[in-house]
Amino acid sequence: MKLQDRVAIVTGTSPNIGGGIAGGLADEGARVVCVDVVADNAQQCAAWITKRGGDARGIVCDTTDESQVEAMVARARDAYGGVDILVNNAGILGGQSVLEMPLERWSRQLAVNLTGTFLCTKHVARVMVQQARGGSIIVIVSTAGHQGQPGNIGYCTSKSGLLNFTRAAAMDLAPHKVRVNSLTPTATDVDESVERAVEWGRPRPERRGRLLDFAKMLPAGTLPSPRHYARAAVFLASDDAEMITGFDLRVDAGAIAKYWPWIPQT
Ligand SMILES: NC(=O)c1ccc[n+]([C@@H]2O[C@H](COP(=O)([O-])OP(=O)(O)OC[C@H]3O[C@@H](n4cnc5c(N)ncnc54)[C@H](O)[C@@H]3O)[C@@H](O)[C@H]2O)c1
Repeated sequence: MKLQDRVAIVTGTSPNIGGGIAGGLADEGARVVCVDVVADNAQQCAAWITKRGGDARGIVCDTTDESQVEAMVARARDAYGGVDILVNNAGILGGQSVLEMPLERWSRQLAVNLTGTFLCTKHVARVMVQQARGGSIIVIVSTAGHQGQPGNIGYCTSKSGLLNFTRAAAMDLAPHKVRVNSLTPTATDVDESVERAVEWGRPRPERRGRLLDFAKMLPAGTLPSPRHYARAAVFLASDDAEMITGFDLRVDAGAIAKYWPWIPQT
């Protein structure tokens, strides 16, 4: 149990990556606050962790609204006596090209991906500084934050911004022993999130085809699953990573390291 008695806040706890990370932290002993603007995602994730023998609660919160974030962090602190881990995972995926992207959609995507992460980090970090027992903040990025993906201008821009947000916040918080690191996932295998949705009592989601054959382009040949990100998040949150801050941990099956013209699976 690497996170025994630690208190974690995870934002964006859908059955996909946020749910997987919340479950992975709970499996290592953390008490988990599942935060989502969609009530079912917050409550069902917490209920699932509790059913598996963990300790969790769901809080509905729009992470772009500072008063809601302040109230959510205060509730988490009061319920569990502090906060040790924050995983900034809530995000809006997808988008359009720079030619077509409507301003309203751009603004909302940047608000959730960038401003939501800023607000949660600000208010959780204030609690951590006050507690004076350190802490670990993890920012979920994407390989699209490292590369120029066509047709995804707001997502690429915001995720890239989060890489340097992480480094700058790490500098602000280093004197307080609060570590800030990012974790880069890539195109993710859907099987685990489908099964988790069913476990949460939802109808089995329909599989959607992908325009690109991601697995063929990956050096490792298979896509990562949320559990792989969860293991990396546990590491970054734990004392094993006590000297690691301002770092980006890529859990991308080699995607970013790849020589660009090489197609591994041919
Ligand atoms: N799925 C992938 O292939 C992939 C790849 C790389 C990175 N990521 C990143 O991983 C994270 C999770 O992705 P996912 O695929 O699980 O997405 P998802 O859409 O399943 O989950 C995102 C969650 O964030 C919540 N959310 C959105 N706006 C919010 C707000 N204002 N306040 C609180 N919650 C809000 C949503 O309700 C949802 O539950 C995102 O940051 C995403 O960019 C995903």
